[in-house]
Amino acid sequence: MRLYVNIDHVATVREARRTDEPDPVRAAAAAEQGGADGITVHLREDRRHIQDADVRALRAAVRTVLNLELGAAPEIVRLAARLKPFQATLVPEQRREITTEGGLALRGANRKVCTAVERLTAAGIRVSLFIDPDPGTIDRAAALGVPAVELHTGRYARSWRKSDAALRALGRAAAHARARGLAVHAGHGLTYDNVQPVAAIRDIEELNIGHSIVSNAIFLGMEEAVRRMRQLVDEARKP
Ligand code: PXP
Repeated sequence: MRLYVNIDHVATVREARRTDEPDPVRAAAAAEQGGADGITVHLREDRRHIQDADVRALRAAVRTVLNLELGAAPEIVRLAARLKPFQATLVPEQRREITTEGGLALRGANRKVCTAVERLTAAGIRVSLFIDPDPGTIDRAAALGVPAVELHTGRYARSWRKSDAALRALGRAAAHARARGLAVHAGHGLTYDNVQPVAAIRDIEELNIGHSIVSNAIFLGMEEAVRRMRQLVDEARKP
């Protein structure tokens, strides 16, 4: 299973002072040393953490692969098509949210999402859609012709201590997406405590984890924080 590390919140700390530390490029290198298979960043329209220059620098420095999360706004899509990350994950974006709250609904006309998928695909970028683990939404994603979806694990992250309903829904959704020919990624709200049941779902091939790893990196350093998450993921995946 691939572990992609989201380093947005390294830039959040830097932007708290609008200075030049901590450096996301350095964080990416340490995450790779710790066993990350890819580096993820979200270039938000409001540029609250990751900046355009970070994406450019990471594009050049990352030795694994870069997964760029973005909303479907034409300005950001154009930038992504120029920067050519290995993968682009389209997410719904609202200015006032603290973090990405739900998945793309993909209901109705979805002109913006369709255009974004077309533009990014034409630029040679692998496109993934961040969606809720819901069969109807998965079908609509498959109909858009993307190779991959990322299932939103937020409901699981909020409820796993009390109920396994969200975990079962994730398992069913992952199987449904695989049956539709989609590669299945997952993420949001995953931590050292709750990652293993999700990592054990065989139909999921990639996890995107940010906040918990960056939080632990404050105490352990980025390399060790990633190494520990890597171990948990690999352990959960053992036959
Ligand atoms: N996947 C997507 C699409 C996201 O938007 C985020 C948050 O930026 C994550 C994964 C990572 O979530 P967390 O920071 O809670 O691990």
